[in-house]
Amino acid sequence: MSLGLTEHRKEDREQRLAEIREALGSRSIVLIGLMGAGKTALGRRLASRLDLPFIDADAEIEEAAGSNISEIFAEHGEAYFRQGERKVIARLLKSGPQVLATGGGAYMNAETRANIKAHGISVWLRAELKVLLKRVNRRDNRPLLAGDDHEAVMKKLMAERYPVYAEADVTVESRDVPHDTIVGTVVDALADKLGCAKKPAKDQSREKV
Ligand code: S3P
Repeated sequence: MSLGLTEHRKEDREQRLAEIREALGSRSIVLIGLMGAGKTALGRRLASRLDLPFIDADAEIEEAAGSNISEIFAEHGEAYFRQGERKVIARLLKSGPQVLATGGGAYMNAETRANIKAHGISVWLRAELKVLLKRVNRRDNRPLLAGDDHEAVMKKLMAERYPVYAEADVTVESRDVPHDTIVGTVVDALADKLGCAKKPAKDQSREKV
């Protein structure tokens, strides 16, 4: 049976996603980056494209604590939250393969970074200040942004964290474009990093089979 061009492209795409899953083995794809980088929104879509489970570390911390992150910060302080974050991520990393979105501060912990290196492929969703601010200003559930000067806080966090985030296995620019476009770029970057097949050429006509 001969397949049409569209079916061929679809087959190539599926083949490539299967190769990524195979190369991944039991490792997790771990999304890191600042608040507003799109770790959860992009992570969900990436997981669905790769047909892998999606886990949000912050949601798991809230579940384990029985309260939300703002309450944990208010009642127990940031150090307590960081301790829980480190433990929960260490536990979650044992359950790959999966797409794991982490809170913006998680990768700053050396033990968590080492765990991610041992059990995952890290993807830094890097974003410009303007893009981050536009996104974080939509919601007010982040304790680090409880004050008014979001710009100053984000600038400080960028200065402290970007050099550390830069240790990630893969970096993808989280631009102000549709999520699916960025997910496509993440898939390409992962395929490249994992040594999988090249992207099927878009406009290249195929030999008849
Ligand atoms: C934090 C980021 C938040 C959450 C907590 C602390 C940080 O997660 O873990 O409020 O230190 O950057 P998101 O990056 O998902 O917003």
